[in-house]
Amino acid sequence: MTAAAQFARIPHPAPTPAQRVQEILAAPGFGRFFTDHMVTIDYTEADGWTNAIVEPYASLTLDPATMVFHYGQAIFEGLKAYRQPDGQVACFRIDANAARFRRSARRMAMAELPEELFIESVRQLLEVDSAWVPAAGGEESLYLRPFMFATESGLGVKPASSYKYLLLGSPAGAYFPRGVKPVRVWLSTEYVRAAPGGTGEAKVAGNYAASLLAQAEATAKGCDQVVWLDAVERRYVEEMGTNNLFFVYGSGADARLVTPELSGSLLPGITRDSLLTLAADSGYPVTERKISVEDWRAGAESGEITEVFACGTAAVITPVGSVCGPDGEFAIGGGEPGEVTMALRDTLTGIQRGTFADVHQWMRVL
Ligand code: PLP
Ligand code: COI
Repeated sequence: MTAAAQFARIPHPAPTPAQRVQEILAAPGFGRFFTDHMVTIDYTEADGWTNAIVEPYASLTLDPATMVFHYGQAIFEGLKAYRQPDGQVACFRIDANAARFRRSARRMAMAELPEELFIESVRQLLEVDSAWVPAAGGEESLYLRPFMFATESGLGVKPASSYKYLLLGSPAGAYFPRGVKPVRVWLSTEYVRAAPGGTGEAKVAGNYAASLLAQAEATAKGCDQVVWLDAVERRYVEEMGTNNLFFVYGSGADARLVTPELSGSLLPGITRDSLLTLAADSGYPVTERKISVEDWRAGAESGEITEVFACGTAAVITPVGSVCGPDGEFAIGGGEPGEVTMALRDTLTGIQRGTFADVHQWMRVL
């Protein structure tokens, strides 16, 4: 059976009126509104992947002993669908998200959803809820949130024998409310997000739970996001709460980029990977290596580091303007978005919006 033939469909009896959808799309924010439908697929050891269904967005009913509530087997993904100038809808690097979802499942001893079912679930949702994909050309897109959790009931500690996969669609504007204005970040020296051998490189719900106290601390200090350091030496920059980081050294024709190497405890971002390619295409030398907080501070203060930016699906590319920590605050550049940051942002968003040539064939109309 083809992946498409496995999906049943229950249309929403009372979809959101078109005018209300337009109002939502005009100012969607992030993660506040959901499309009319969702996709669900069940997994059991006995039957494999079954009950693939596109149905009205609705609450779930779960047994209180469902294992995800107790032992936390839960993973997710985040990707975006963009309206193209010709009206079609294209997803950015969906294959990479499907592959990372499988890797996350493997790390959490969960069932691995085949890539073709992941992609087909997105195709099915986009087919029924295409009116929720914002107009071409702007910052807005349809954020897609595939996720999966353990559904077996029982309190024995072991990998569950059954799982539920779901897909939600949520129209999205800028993740940071101030758009591309540089953010202020908080260096977390007290807490650690992920340690070697842990789950840091998987997209696991628990990683985010573990980050929230430090994120609350960042907010209390007037910062937008937390920056994580390595767990062992508490010295090397890993990533931000929901983004990877790039450092720009020098400027103009001499600009070169550095991003923290994949240590095993930071998320291998798909935006990060794309920017490694786009930076090289633009002729910027790029290095993946360790970068310490001392190097960051010294580089920013001497002017050798001219720009720093955060990148991720939700936040796209956001400049980092200043860094706060227990030892005080330092600024990067002049408080305005840098030249290299904005050039890479234009290239990436141009590809996503269909206005730049997609030479790497990252956009896929499903
Ligand atoms: N790091 C973390 C912790 C994230 O949550 C994200 C967002 O997905 C990223 C990095 C960036 O990953 P991607 O570019 O695949 O969205
Ligand atoms: C994404 O960019 O998709 C993320 O995962 C960030 C999210 C946790 C809001």
